[in-house]
Amino acid sequence: MRQTIRFVHKGEIVELENIDPTRTVLNYLRYDIGLTGTKEGCAEGDCGACTVVLGELHDGSLRYQAVNACILFLPTLDGKELITVEDLKSDDGGLHPVQQAMVEANGTQCGFCTPGFVMSLFAEIHGNPSSGRHHIDNVLAGNLCRCTGYGPIVDAAGKLAEAQIQDKFHDQQTRTIEQLKELQQDDGISYEWQGRRYAAPKKLEDLARILKENPTATILAGATDVGLWVTKLHQTLETVIYIGQIEELRQMESVSDILVIGAGVSYSDAWDKLAQYYPDFGELIRRIASTQIRNSGTIGGNIANGSPIGDTPPALIALDSRLILRSHSGSREMPLEDFFIDYGKQDLVPGEFVEKIHVPLPSANQHFATYKISKRFDQDISAVCAAFNLTLDSGTVEKIRICYGGMAGTPKRARKTEAALIGQPWSEAILESTLAAMAEDYEPMTDMRASSTYRMKSAQNLLRKFFIETTAPDTETRIVGEGQVAYG
Ligand SMILES: Cc1cc2nc3c(=O)[nH]c(=O)nc-3n(C[C@H](O)[C@H](O)[C@H](O)COP(=O)(O)OP(=O)(O)OC[C@H]3O[C@@H](n4cnc5c(N)ncnc54)[C@H](O)[C@@H]3O)c2cc1C
Ligand code: FES
Ligand code: FES
Repeated sequence: MRQTIRFVHKGEIVELENIDPTRTVLNYLRYDIGLTGTKEGCAEGDCGACTVVLGELHDGSLRYQAVNACILFLPTLDGKELITVEDLKSDDGGLHPVQQAMVEANGTQCGFCTPGFVMSLFAEIHGNPSSGRHHIDNVLAGNLCRCTGYGPIVDAAGKLAEAQIQDKFHDQQTRTIEQLKELQQDDGISYEWQGRRYAAPKKLEDLARILKENPTATILAGATDVGLWVTKLHQTLETVIYIGQIEELRQMESVSDILVIGAGVSYSDAWDKLAQYYPDFGELIRRIASTQIRNSGTIGGNIANGSPIGDTPPALIALDSRLILRSHSGSREMPLEDFFIDYGKQDLVPGEFVEKIHVPLPSANQHFATYKISKRFDQDISAVCAAFNLTLDSGTVEKIRICYGGMAGTPKRARKTEAALIGQPWSEAILESTLAAMAEDYEPMTDMRASSTYRMKSAQNLLRKFFIETTAPDTETRIVGEGQVAYG
């Protein structure tokens, strides 16, 4: 395996050696090569001042995505193209169309946030730009500005979407694709740096072998949790094994009545497919973090971190998903809910990793909804996240699975409430009489996000909301923004 990292920057292949495995791309840019256009605001993926764009081969084409450089580890650039705000100017030194649009819309004041906004908009014009307000809000939700106000920036985004811009990156596309293909021609990276180790295998068997040799290694996927261990908790990670280069883990496909999601599938890549089968799951993904975080963060990471307030586990558990774990000695499968043993304790042994998730596809008479309650609409962690999966038979509850995040030390099903509903008519009177059972299912905690009372009340009200939506689908409470979501 190679001991150097290679990526495309400014049209050339850069090769680096002796790299600290957890050196951030932001620190590399600012301190190692003196590119200070990319800013540091929060160093935790929240503000977007550090936004850069990564180019990657995706189904044979070149795809550009905005990411947060502050929590991105430098070795994970291997095989990709890095674009920063400095790279945008034209060959004669003129402004890029995105920068020009920001100037014309008066989209900047102190300018600290501006490079981040410019890079988010740069990725946008290289994707599927739209001037729809909800779309623009999604694109820019990960960029904070404390002085300009968002109106002029949104105006600039709208004008750019309508302009159908061609820039030098479009012109250089064929060459960039060739360079990126050239960089894929090996079996990955493995090196030591000052007694610490970094590996980025490309095959599942190699990952399993390396994890057997390094059972206590830190598995690294999108780094939207692990990055903060370094930048905020100042941890030193001795051995880091990056799984983002393993194509098999990034696959998502429907096989008979199952949707198979590789553990390394990002939120952005999962979004459309999940929304196709379960529209509410798509809405939930939209409520997770920001575009930058969704481009990096993975579904597997959201499960493996074991958080009681991760947003996808309640929905996946309500859907009766199964988890496939793998190690050098083979695979094992379990219902996803069994993975979460207790707060901070998951059924994952050293040397093992999450390989994939099996999500059953919708069946007849099935109603599924998921809701997230958080203080802000975007970029916020849940106080309570609820998911409901109901099958009715002539108005009677044949099956119901109810799962909440934020109500216990793990994502947890409301088994007593479920039992009280199964076999009963799906009626308001029955529902109201069973809500008390939820107090037997959960004793939620009070913390900075919500009090115990607020959590319990919200959980009960979300079940009421689900009832109203399934019995009166045209009611106005169903629609918030582009779909059915709730936030407090
Ligand atoms: C600004 C910000 C906003 C956020 N907002 C939300 C939000 O709204 N909702 C939400 O749920 N989360 C949110 N998060 C948390 C985070 O984005 C998610 O938990 C994400 O899914 C983690 O995935 P990752 O790929 O980045 O994992 P990483 O950070 O790479 O890893 C997370 C953990 O999982 C382990 N791991 C990763 N993949 C595997 C695997 N295949 N097998 C075994 N172990 C593995 C790692 O070792 C680590 O312990 C936010 C984070 C940030 C920084
Ligand atoms: S510095 Fe704030 S998101 Fe990176
Ligand atoms: S222009 Fe000052 S923070 Fe945005």
